[in-house]
Order: sequence, then C-alpha cells, then structure tokens
Amino acid sequence: MHFLAPLLLAPLACAAGVPYEQYILAPASRDLIPVAVHQVNGSVTNPKALTQTSSGDTTFHGVSSVTYDFGKNVAGLVSLEVGSASSSSAFLGVTFSESSLYISSEACDATADAGLDTPLWFALGQGAGKYTPDEKYLRGAFRYLTVVSNTTATVSLQSLHVQFLAAPMQDLRGYTGWFHSDDELINKIWYAGAYTNQLCTIDPAHGNALVHLGSVSSSDNITLPQTVTWWNNYTITNGTSTITDGAKRDRLVWPGDMSIALESIAVSTGDLYSIRMGLESLLALQQSNGRLPYAGKPFSDMDIVSYTYHLHSLIGMSYLYRFSGDQSWLARYWDQYVRGVEWALSSVDNTGLANVTASADWLRFGMGGHNIEANAILYFILQDAQKLAQELNHPSTATTWNQIAARIKTAANQLLWDDQAGFYRDNETATLHPQDGNAWAIKANLTSSPKQISIISQALQSRWGPYGAPAPEAGQTISPFIGGFELQAHYLADQPAAALNLMRLQWGFMLQDARMTQSSFIEGYSTDGSIHYAPYSNDARISHAHGWSTGPTSALSTYAAGIQLMGPAGAEWRIAPQPGNLTHVDAGLATGRGQFAVRFQRQTGRYETFSFQTPSATRGDVVLPGTQGILVSCTGQRIRLVNGVARGLAGGSWTLEKGGQ
Ligand SMILES: *[C@@H]1O[C@H](CO)[C@@H](O)[C@H](O)[C@H]1NC(C)=O
Ligand SMILES: *[C@@H]1O[C@H](CO)[C@@H](O)[C@H](O)[C@H]1NC(C)=O
Ligand SMILES: *[C@@H]1O[C@H](CO)[C@@H](O)[C@H](O)[C@H]1NC(C)=O
Ligand SMILES: *[C@@H]1O[C@H](CO)[C@@H](O)[C@H](O)[C@H]1NC(C)=O
Ligand SMILES: *[C@@H]1O[C@H](CO)[C@@H](O)[C@H](O)[C@H]1NC(C)=O
Ligand SMILES: *[C@@H]1O[C@H](CO)[C@@H](O)[C@H](O)[C@H]1NC(C)=O
Ligand SMILES: *[C@@H]1O[C@H](CO)[C@@H](O)[C@H](O)[C@H]1NC(C)=O
Ligand SMILES: *[C@@H]1O[C@H](CO)[C@@H](O)[C@H](O)[C@H]1NC(C)=O
Ligand SMILES: *[C@@H]1O[C@H](CO)[C@@H](O)[C@H](O)[C@H]1NC(C)=O
Repeated sequence: MHFLAPLLLAPLACAAGVPYEQYILAPASRDLIPVAVHQVNGSVTNPKALTQTSSGDTTFHGVSSVTYDFGKNVAGLVSLEVGSASSSSAFLGVTFSESSLYISSEACDATADAGLDTPLWFALGQGAGKYTPDEKYLRGAFRYLTVVSNTTATVSLQSLHVQFLAAPMQDLRGYTGWFHSDDELINKIWYAGAYTNQLCTIDPAHGNALVHLGSVSSSDNITLPQTVTWWNNYTITNGTSTITDGAKRDRLVWPGDMSIALESIAVSTGDLYSIRMGLESLLALQQSNGRLPYAGKPFSDMDIVSYTYHLHSLIGMSYLYRFSGDQSWLARYWDQYVRGVEWALSSVDNTGLANVTASADWLRFGMGGHNIEANAILYFILQDAQKLAQELNHPSTATTWNQIAARIKTAANQLLWDDQAGFYRDNETATLHPQDGNAWAIKANLTSSPKQISIISQALQSRWGPYGAPAPEAGQTISPFIGGFELQAHYLADQPAAALNLMRLQWGFMLQDARMTQSSFIEGYSTDGSIHYAPYSNDARISHAHGWSTGPTSALSTYAAGIQLMGPAGAEWRIAPQPGNLTHVDAGLATGRGQFAVRFQRQTGRYETFSFQTPSATRGDVVLPGTQGILVSCTGQRIRLVNGVARGLAGGSWTLEKGGQ
C-alpha cells in the first residue's frame, strides 16, 4: 500500500496516536454487530441479544421482523448464525436501508431508477449453522438492517455480523490528517466528510453491475422479483482499491469526484492510491480524439459526452499531482493530459468562449452554448495546465494556453456578466444565474476584480434558504456537490463567516436530520428539506454517502486552518488561515514530504497563540492579515510579519511572538 510512514515526530499533534481519533467514525474493527434494536414487528424473543456479543439467542416466532440500527452508515457483507429452525421450509430475509424512511420488512431501499431492491433471502433447510451470501451481495451502505421471518416456523439466531468491506486497503482509523476547533458541529462535519469518502472507497471487484439501469418499472416496488436482482460484482478499475461516487450506488468511478472528494480524501485519510486507481480507469477510456468519459465502466460511454466531466478528470490529474508530488506519474500521462486539454479547446469559438454541445453534467439542466460553469472550469484548468506545463518544461505550450485563457476571461465578463443581478448568467440568452457557474467563476478567478468576487459571494448568500444554498440550474435542488464549490468561493471572497455559516446550515442539516444517517453526507435533496433530488424520480435511490458532498473537509483544512499546498506534495506552501469566528483551530495533513500542521487560539479577533509546522526542505509564505509580530523558528530564526505577511520561510516549526499590537 502507498501509505505514508507513521507520523511520529509531530510536535503540534497529540503526543501519540492519531490526533482527535475520538471523532473518527470509521469502525475500529471490520467485524460489526448492530448497536441497537430500532423496532420489532410480531413475536420476537430477546431481539437485543444480537446487539451484544455472546448473550443468548434471538427467537422469531412465526411471521415477524426486527430492525437493527448500526448507529451510523456502514457497509459490507451480512452473516447470520442460525441456532435452530423448527421447519426445513423456514426462511430468513434481510433488508437494508441507509435512511430511516425506507425501513421495511418487504424490501430494501433502492439502487435502481425505479422500484425497491429485493431482500436477501436465506432458505434455512440446512438448519443450524452460519449463512453468508455470496460476496457480490454485499450492501454498499446501510444504517438499518431488518431481519424478517416470513413463515410460521420458530427460528433462533445466535448472531448477526457484518463484515465491513469499505476502504479495503486502509487502516480505517489511521488518518494522516485531522481538524479540531472550538465548534463541535464543524468538527463533526469534517469527520463525517472523511468517513463518507471511506464508505465510497471500495474493492474494485465490488463495482455495480448496473443490472437495473433503465430496466425496472415503478410498479416493481409492489411485486418484488423472487430472486435478488441487485449485486456488486463488476470490476471497475485495476488495483485493489478505488474511489467511487457513492457507497450504495452507483459504486462507479465518476469524474466529478476528482474535484471535491479527491481533496477531502487527501487532507484526511491520505488514500491517494484509491484516487489514482479511479483516475487511471478514466484515463484508460480516453478516445483517440482526446475525449475522456462521462463515467467509468460499466457505464456505457458510447453516446454520452460530458464537457464538464471531461474537465473534472483533468482537474483530478493536477490535484493528484499536487498532493502526491509524483512527477514521473504526471510525465507518464502528460500526453493524455495535453490531448484532453486540446479536445476541450476545440469547442472554443470566435467569441473566445467554449460553445458546449454536450448536455451531460452533474444532472443540472441547460448545459449548453456559452455556459458559464463550463467556461469557468475550462479557465481553471488552463491556469493549472500552465503551471504543469512549466514544471514539465513545455513553456511554449504554457504560453499558448495563457493566451486562450485570457480571451475566455475577457469574453465571459463581456458576454455573461449581469451587473444588475451581481451574478453571471448561465449563457447569453439565459435569465438564470446558476450556483455552479458563479461559484466556479470565483474559484477559477474568472472574475476581473475583488469587488466582483465580493458581489457574487453576497448574491449567493442572499439566496440561502432554511436548508442551504440552492442550485436553481437543477430545479428546486440543494446540491452538496456544487455547495462545496460555493464554500470555496466564500473563502476566496474573504468571507470565512459565510463559509462557516453555510456549513452549519447545510451540512449541519445533512448531519443532524433524523432522515439522514448522522454520519455520512447525502448526494442531494430539495430546497424545501424533503429528501427528494429533482433529477431522480425514485427517492429511495438517493445515495446517503456521496463523496461529492464532502466539500467542508478540504475547505476547513485548506482555508479555515489555511494549509495550502502551492507546489508538488507541498514543496511550496502557504499558511493563510481564515478562521471566521473560530477561536481555536488545530489541524494538519500529511504528504510524502511530511506533516503540515497549524494551531492557533484567538480572542476578540486576534491571535493569542499561533504556531505551525511544515516539512524540512520545503518553503513557503505566511499570511495573517492584520497581525503584527515575529515568527520564530525552532532553530531560532526570526522573521517579522510585514503587513501581516512573511515570505520565503524554510520548512520547520514556527511560532508567532506577538509584538507591537
Ligand atoms: C409488520 O408485519 C405485518 C404483517 O406481516 C406487515 O404487514 C407490516 O408491514 C409489518 N410492519 C413493519 C413496520 O415491518
Ligand atoms: C418466504 O420467502 C421466500 C423467499 O422469497 C419464499 O420463497 C417463500 O415462499 C416465502 N414464504 C412464505 C410463507 O411467504
Ligand atoms: C455477477 O453476478 C451475476 C448474478 O449472479 C451473474 O449473472 C454475472 O455473470 C456476474 N458477473 C460477473 C462479472 O461475475
Ligand atoms: C489496467 O492496467 C492495464 C495495464 O497497465 C492497462 O492497459 C489498462 O488500461 C488498465 N485498466 C484500467 C481500467 O485502469
Ligand atoms: C441557456 O441557459 C438556460 C438556463 O439554464 C437553459 O434553459 C438553456 O437551455 C441554455 N442554452 C443552451 C444552448 O444550453
Ligand atoms: C454552438 O454550436 C452549435 C452547433 O454548432 C450551434 O448550433 C450553436 O448556435 C452554437 N451556439 C452559440 C451560442 O454560438
Ligand atoms: C486573478 O486575476 C487578476 C486579474 O484579473 C489578477 O490580478 C490576480 O492576480 C489573479 N489572482 C490569482 C489568485 O491568480
Ligand atoms: C413505487 O415507488 C414509487 C417511488 O418510490 C412511488 O411513487 C409509487 O407510489 C410506488 N408504487 C406503488 C404502487 O406503491
Ligand atoms: C460563531 O458563529 C456561530 C453562528 O453565528 C455561533 O453559533 C457561534 O456561537 C459563534 N462562535 C463563537 C465562539 O462566538
């Protein structure tokens, strides 16, 4: 495995072990038993027995069921140990649900576009013994598991176990990053984001076989088929672990996850290997014209072109390089990267903007023409691409891309900026002001002034409803994916309070609402707070553990704590915290170069204490606006902040010595 060495020399972190391990939601053991009985139906003796190790049997008398609660979203393969069955024609069934909304003794929640999933049935003809289904019947995510007895028989169960199969190559609680502040909700959000990504990381042999795609009608939820019609046995990538979009579904590699999930994984578990396997599976599908796929296998790429998802794979390449620092990997894929950029540029017309002719995106509507989201992402890529070209010593390529980027910026501001609304329009003919394109415009620096950035940040804030920030480009939708970019936009607009407030509002809702799992983040819901995601017709299908919804994890590490990697694996860095009203932050992450950590305490908007640590043989800047004083290194070097900034510091441990305040 490609994990980093244990972080033994960590002066800022706790003396031993993983800092703030008590917040980590991943289980300590892969052998799980339920933590509680959620509900009982019919006559069942001692249902609680299965929630404890070795404390007797649970007995089902005739038609009955018990719903068990694992206390959080989990994933894996169920095993039942039957003590006795009074009839050889007895059956036990098991159903799964992530949300409490779909607890049922008749069906699971859904993985298909319509209908519900069948229970797993065990014919107990063998009598006593252990019953485990084939591994392809592992369930990718569930919090509630219902055991059903559907005959008149008396059946006793000695144990119920789930083998936790997510994040197969990880030491589940061995995080390389941490985040702690005085705000408990914010802390829990950081760790739920990290755990969500662990649930979405799978053995590549357990990908979704997509048997249901478009083939089940909505009447099927009443008469479920007699045989199980869902399974996870399609091999989606090389290697032994990969990221996917969602734990229950799709269990496929989707390029959108290269933008949000990638960064949140890198700052928490540091599992770059699973990211690389997913990304390489997308690169393996590149067409001869340079186009990258809408999704990984077995999703059919033949017909569906997505301009924006093509771009997200390119982002994945530069982000992975930023965290891994693996230049030989980048060089190996450079030709593919360049062909990918060129395919994207082939849509740029004489206005200077890309004219998008492929509508597929993150399921927003109206992706086409001179779309602001697509052009902002393209502009973002061209900035990244110039840096990568310089690093690999292709200066003329960088110059070409610089010129094209400049034209995009000019044209976007001329054609798409709506001064009255304080937003970019979706395209020239649109009246709609999308969340995605406006957040991305700030993220990409497509904007032409700090004032414009601030106007967009204010305009986005003014649209928040009781459940979060809307994405009108997808109907009555709250998209935690696009919300992740909005968080970044508020930080870039120097509005850290807005970013924190949006986390508390939107991710607080996602974490605390009773219909959610209280442990992982849902892929989307409605602006009225209902668990309905406009692009889908089947609410039971919504994934409650989706990597694209984990934006706060990286936003907090990168902006609230201010740990920014400016060069490969942090060879250059910037420490630039934007604490908002957090009065205490202790955060860190690791790359192959070593550990990056920041710790501070504030009172009435000033630093009481401030220290940070970066690996040796690195360099960077410190930005603490409005702060005076001297940064003192552990080797006794002293550098005074000038207008709150100190540049060119060597890696090491530094502490702020206040002076002249
Ligand atoms: C309880 O059992 C009855 C009879 O089998 C069934 O109709 C009903 O749906 C069950 N309720 C729950 C909540 O499982
Ligand atoms: C119990 O469920 C199994 C599996 O679906 C089915 O074959 C059997 O007929 C059911 N038994 C009763 C009494 O409904
Ligand atoms: C996956 O399992 C299904 C159902 O048992 C089977 O039909 C299919 O051949 C399996 N696919 C692979 C790739 O093993
Ligand atoms: C798996 O690895 C082989 C050999 O390197 C490569 O040809 C293939 O494209 C890879 N496939 C995926 C899905 O990554
Ligand atoms: C322009 O944007 C509007 C609003 O999103 C959308 O309805 C329309 O389809 C878009 N035009 C094109 C060409 O995609
Ligand atoms: C984009 O290209 C399509 C296909 O060539 C064309 O029909 C459309 O008018 C173009 N849109 C714009 C805004 O130029
Ligand atoms: C953003 O663009 C402006 C020019 O419009 C430039 O002055 C500024 O340096 C850019 N900011 C970043 C972070 O690149
Ligand atoms: C089947 O499920 C859908 C959505 O999950 C629901 O709208 C519909 O009412 C269900 N059908 C029946 C007949 O209950
Ligand atoms: C920070 O702001 C939030 C939201 O207004 C508030 O709930 C919290 O108490 C504040 N924290 C401190 C330390 O003032």
